[in-house]
Amino acid sequence: MSKSILVVDDDPDVIEIISETLKNEGYLTESATDGDEALRKYDIFNPDLVILDVSLPSKDGFAVCDEIRSRDINNDVPVILISGNSVSDTMLEGFKSGAQDYIKKPFSLNEVLAKIGNFLEQADGRKNLREQKEILEDELHKGQEDYKRVNRKLKKIILDMRTLFDLSHDLNSLHDPEELYHVFFLTIIGQLGVESLGLFHIEDEEDDFLSFAGGKRVQEGVLKTIRLFRNTGLAKYLVDNSGVLELKSSGLSGDVAQEAVFMKNLGFEYCFPLIIKGKLIGLFFIGGKINKQAYTKNDFEIFKSICNSATTGIQNSRLYTELQNTYLSTIKVLVSTIEAKDANTRGHTDRVANYARLIADEMGIEKEQKDIISFGAALHDIGKLGVYENILNKPSELTEKEWKIVRSHPEVGANIIKNLKFLEKATDLVRHHHERLDGGGYPDGLKGDEISLGARIVSVADSFDAMTTNRPYREALSFPEAFEQLRMLDTKFDQDIVENLARLYDKKLIRE
Ligand SMILES: [Fe+2]
Ligand SMILES: [Fe+2]
Repeated sequence: MSKSILVVDDDPDVIEIISETLKNEGYLTESATDGDEALRKYDIFNPDLVILDVSLPSKDGFAVCDEIRSRDINNDVPVILISGNSVSDTMLEGFKSGAQDYIKKPFSLNEVLAKIGNFLEQADGRKNLREQKEILEDELHKGQEDYKRVNRKLKKIILDMRTLFDLSHDLNSLHDPEELYHVFFLTIIGQLGVESLGLFHIEDEEDDFLSFAGGKRVQEGVLKTIRLFRNTGLAKYLVDNSGVLELKSSGLSGDVAQEAVFMKNLGFEYCFPLIIKGKLIGLFFIGGKINKQAYTKNDFEIFKSICNSATTGIQNSRLYTELQNTYLSTIKVLVSTIEAKDANTRGHTDRVANYARLIADEMGIEKEQKDIISFGAALHDIGKLGVYENILNKPSELTEKEWKIVRSHPEVGANIIKNLKFLEKATDLVRHHHERLDGGGYPDGLKGDEISLGARIVSVADSFDAMTTNRPYREALSFPEAFEQLRMLDTKFDQDIVENLARLYDKKLIRE
């Protein structure tokens, strides 16, 4: 659309020259010869630019310019002043009244055209920017509600991410499969609002089928009887086509469709495979949502993320269990070596380990620490491997020199196990199981709390077993007699531990 220009000058010849030139360039023009007419025409024609002579009858150019500015608050219409007066005065006055530029008479028409082109372009740019800003402000205003909604969604996603992060941390640190499944199930229910869920897993690496591992709000009795073969049907299909599978999907056929329908009839709607390094370890089934709504794409993403975290957790837990079994069998071999040497204390380590584990249970000590106590207790006398058999089995009193050798066994034992990575945490318990609260023990003469809780437990369990079994030099005490003895030795043994042990007897968890 052509731009319109209002040309104002008291000299009709000047108006004509300028107007003709502008029309030749494609502009629309209007003209006025005095100030009042100029403003009237301005109001009627809404020009895109005004060329304005300073010296006009009725109202001079500065006054007209002032009034134009009060009408055009956005400064969209450039005003170019024309004057024969001294440059600096007119310019100053002109800019004060809101004019964009100034042309001195006599002027070159080319100069006028160049300035007009420039100012119109600038004015267009300003107008565009303003319009965009207005649109944005408008959208922002309209979008307040949207914004709140998006913000809520964002917060939910951040929460989901944090839950996933916490979960993968939790799942990686949980080693007890039952506990791990429990956290896994609760997370799925909490995050997705799932009505029912069930996990099938390959329990033993050798198994060629998946069996029910657990679930929530499902018919456990029925599910426990089901075997899903790992190399056919749903299991194979999901390994080949990893992703969330809708059980009523029409694209299934043969045994896959049969199993899908079967699981669907048990209340499940979707299935997702738990795969680690290309190997299937489980199939996870979920029913519909509690609120009866359909799952969203985002729900499935969260579902997959949780399943993947769980998969890693399950794998870790299996490795951990495997490792723990290896540890235990290693320990058993070591223990039998000790007992083969010391005929008097046959069964001693087993019993001490048992007492220590039960005391730890009774005291509510956490699992990891309890495992360390069990290992430490089972190994506490391993240093006796370094004590000559004839000394260990000597029926008469030991000489001072022999005692010194016997008393070296905690240190010797600690040295044996300290370099075995999986037993290093039990080193302290082995080294300090003969320390006493009053500092009268060995090898380091530690006092009170300087002796770790684990070592104090093993110390009580060890002494209790020594008191309650026959030795070549004395008869065994009864359990109640041994408790009394330990209570009297309150400067040596931790009385809290002694009372926990006595309670085990009252509860019939230990017997004579
Ligand atoms: Fe010992
Ligand atoms: Fe012992």
